[in-house]
Amino acid sequence: MKDSNYLKEMNARSLWHPMAHPADSLANPPTIVTGAQGVRITDIDGHEVIDAVGGLWNVNLGFSCQPVKDAIAAQLDRLPYYSIFRGTTNDCVIQLAEEMRDFFEPDGLSRAFYTSGGSDSVETALRLARQYHKVRGEAGRTKYLSLKKGYHGTHFGGASVNGNANFRTPYEPLLAGCFQIPAPYAYRNPFNESDPERLAQLCLAALEDEIAFQGAGTIAAFIMEPVLGAGGVIPPHETFMPGVREICSKNGILLIADEVITAFGRTGDWTGSRHWGVQPDMMSTAKAITNGYFPFGALMLSEDIAQTFENDETGIANIGHGYTYSGHPVGAAAALACLEETRKLNVAANAAARGRQFHDGLKALEARYDIIGDVRGGHGLMLAMELVSDRATKTPIDKATTFKLQDAVYQAGAMIRISGPNVILSPPLVLTEDDVNTVLGALDTGFASL
Ligand SMILES: Cc1ncc(COP(=O)(O)O)c(C=O)c1O
Repeated sequence: MKDSNYLKEMNARSLWHPMAHPADSLANPPTIVTGAQGVRITDIDGHEVIDAVGGLWNVNLGFSCQPVKDAIAAQLDRLPYYSIFRGTTNDCVIQLAEEMRDFFEPDGLSRAFYTSGGSDSVETALRLARQYHKVRGEAGRTKYLSLKKGYHGTHFGGASVNGNANFRTPYEPLLAGCFQIPAPYAYRNPFNESDPERLAQLCLAALEDEIAFQGAGTIAAFIMEPVLGAGGVIPPHETFMPGVREICSKNGILLIADEVITAFGRTGDWTGSRHWGVQPDMMSTAKAITNGYFPFGALMLSEDIAQTFENDETGIANIGHGYTYSGHPVGAAAALACLEETRKLNVAANAAARGRQFHDGLKALEARYDIIGDVRGGHGLMLAMELVSDRATKTPIDKATTFKLQDAVYQAGAMIRISGPNVILSPPLVLTEDDVNTVLGALDTGFASL
């Protein structure tokens, strides 16, 4: 590797960063991360901090999970690649599919379609949802409903069901036939309703209204995150997702749970759907499936969908979809090792306990710093603070202050993520009680410095 002076000088010069303005990356070069151990990352200057972002919501088992590293290395030696397009497969992906079937059995999901990541898993869900209705003889069901504030990746399908203009406007026109209803976001919503339970009912009524307006027979699927993540960590009231399930079932609409973040323990339960007591028809997963060590994902499908496709005798259920890296043997080996470690360490239970500690700590900070307008969490290790310049008017904080905060917190020992006016926390699920206190202490120092 070239020396640090060279790397600092070339930083952002010949690449464009995702989710960043190219000019901003040049003017404010990104932190160069060069190493990681446990839940800590080290930058090019040797500064070590707790990664309260968990990579990007994906390094659930931390950066030193040796069994996953060993599995990847061994698989690279044994079979570094082979395709699973019609006619061939590999031993790892067969075994993984059985493990996944077992893991997702309580969610009612029994088949897997493998992908290279979250956006691919969402795209696969949207495509197979339309095909499912065609196989069943309801070809008119082509539309998608989703939530404002929702995030479903950046492929054209996913971007079309996204509920945030930043990911949509520059790339319009998007896919036709996608409609968003208000999110159950108690801090800000068009109903001016701050009670989460009443708000959930209003959002459900809006969903029913949209279905009636569009015509149920034109809608293929409703897609939602069980706890909205990238949109600012928005946990709905406990009645919301069960209500969505009921409305979808009543109207013949598939429910796609986008669990790219929430599957594998982040909410304190093994899946976000299980957290709310709901069985979806499809579940998109990725990220923690390989602990972020290998790009990989899976769309899980219900038994009903499986039977519908598998019993077709006309040929219409032939799947004209897939990726070169669907079922990649190295990804599958990583996922097998990850599933084993995830269960062995019972990370869901730790996420629940540390999530409560974190939430209480953030609430205590909220009581001391007026800049914190809203604290969201209480469902495992996904938390956010929405920052405001004026609590009474809820005026969002300016960008400069959020970046100043991020820098101060980093200097004080924790990497946090800034997204608009939100501070987002999604640390590894193996975080200890002391680690949580360290992050809270760094946040305190950061707020005090503003
Ligand atoms: C809920 C959800 N869906 C889809 C995606 C897209 O995943 P990827 O970035 O792996 O394509 C993300 C990424 O954060 C996500 O949070």
